[in-house]
Amino acid sequence: MSALPSGGSAPRTLPSRPASAHQVTPSSPASFSFWLVVVLVVVLFSGGLFGYDQGVISGALSGIKSTFSLSPMLVEVVTSWVTLGALLGALAGGELADRIGRKRTVLVAGALFTLGAAVQAFAPETAILVVGRLIIGAGVGVGAVAAPLYAAELSPAAWRGRFVSAYQLAVTIGIFLAYLVDGWLSANDDWRIMLGAAAVPGLLLFVVALIAPESPRWLMKMRRRSDAARELQKVTPSADVEGELSSIDSALSREASGASWSEVLRPEWRRPLMVGLGLAIFQQVTGINAIIYYADQIFGAAGFATEASRTTVTTWAIGGVNVLATLIAIAFIDRLGRRKLLLAGLIGMAASLIVVGGAFQFIEAVAPAAQASASSAPSVAGIVTLLGLVAFIVSFAFSLGPVVWTVINEIFPGRVRGRAVAVCTAVNWGSAFLVSQFFLSLVGAIGSSATFWLFAAFSVVGWVWVYVYVPETKGQSLEQIQQIWKTLRK
Ligand code: BGC
Repeated sequence: MSALPSGGSAPRTLPSRPASAHQVTPSSPASFSFWLVVVLVVVLFSGGLFGYDQGVISGALSGIKSTFSLSPMLVEVVTSWVTLGALLGALAGGELADRIGRKRTVLVAGALFTLGAAVQAFAPETAILVVGRLIIGAGVGVGAVAAPLYAAELSPAAWRGRFVSAYQLAVTIGIFLAYLVDGWLSANDDWRIMLGAAAVPGLLLFVVALIAPESPRWLMKMRRRSDAARELQKVTPSADVEGELSSIDSALSREASGASWSEVLRPEWRRPLMVGLGLAIFQQVTGINAIIYYADQIFGAAGFATEASRTTVTTWAIGGVNVLATLIAIAFIDRLGRRKLLLAGLIGMAASLIVVGGAFQFIEAVAPAAQASASSAPSVAGIVTLLGLVAFIVSFAFSLGPVVWTVINEIFPGRVRGRAVAVCTAVNWGSAFLVSQFFLSLVGAIGSSATFWLFAAFSVVGWVWVYVYVPETKGQSLEQIQQIWKTLRK
């Protein structure tokens, strides 16, 4: 079974050059304005809704199944069509972000989140529920493109990593809250409340986005210099507004006119596209969502026999740890830089996946005997699995989780940024869909241990690939980052 996309093949087909041949120019610290807080709120709500809507379905399914007597095929549709909606939403989000602006695209996401949640909560039949799933998925996709892009373009360079990582922090908080809400409401199978609850933050996102500033970079692209100056002044009052606008302007004028989809593929932007796509793929093929979606079943197989013990470890060891470890990234991403976090995290991920695979090797060898005497206490191998998965989540959460979104949102030139980010986001969703869709079949075909070792192998390939291809972008303005690609082309 080779359902997973081969993350290892992409880098080999691409030109190899040393990635560190550029300088890091530290930017001056900025003061935190009220408008920057508004930007942060937009980012946090978008990320939180992404995480919540992704995590909540696991607990809602059993109630939905009994209300609508779903066939197994419809269960899959209800579960996975959010990903489908997200894939389409991500592609549309890039187009929208470039055409109507970053802020209005976030407004669209807020409206979709609210509408989708309401349609699901009041769905009288399966078909309407599926429409609601698609709408919420589209909201997730549009928001996943617009919010990090918005964060990257509105934050001062010295804080950009932290702002985009705050988006990832919100995603993890959303997943954690979804696990908690599922736990609280599962006794009565209140699936309508579980799914409908997202309408409240959706509406809040819409309201906050109404007053939020627009991206000065997008306004400059639309040749609205005075609006751009006003928004830049609002967000970073201490900035040298004229200097920054001129730098944005000259970066824009250096780039050829008439950005189209085919332009995203132009040879001079192939390098950032390769970096963005590679990161998007490696973030998924190393297994994070197999663990996020199927934690309950993995813990069940590892000997956590009672539902209560599984819910507790899933909520706290996966959901809670994911939130806490993301804070590490926020603290260090703008100090240590992107490369160090990625490289350290991938080592941790590979090592912990090897351990989890080993534990499953043991569990699979002795499983029948252990299962027969299933007590409520997990075995030693079960505890090793738990610790291995915690180590994996920690390693992912301080590295690939936030850093991938940060880098994807800072490496592209302004003209194609919206579309290029959208392509990377859609590829990330496509890879997530493949992994989550085929994880259980893969386990069935080659066993749990081999599956985790496969994820470990992808982490090793990912490490080499990051080492060779991903440049350091810490502390540089979005315009300075474009110089890196020029240096590499020479
Ligand atoms: C990934 C998601 C994943 C989440 C887990 C994000 O960066 O894109 O697919 O579920 O991290 O925290």
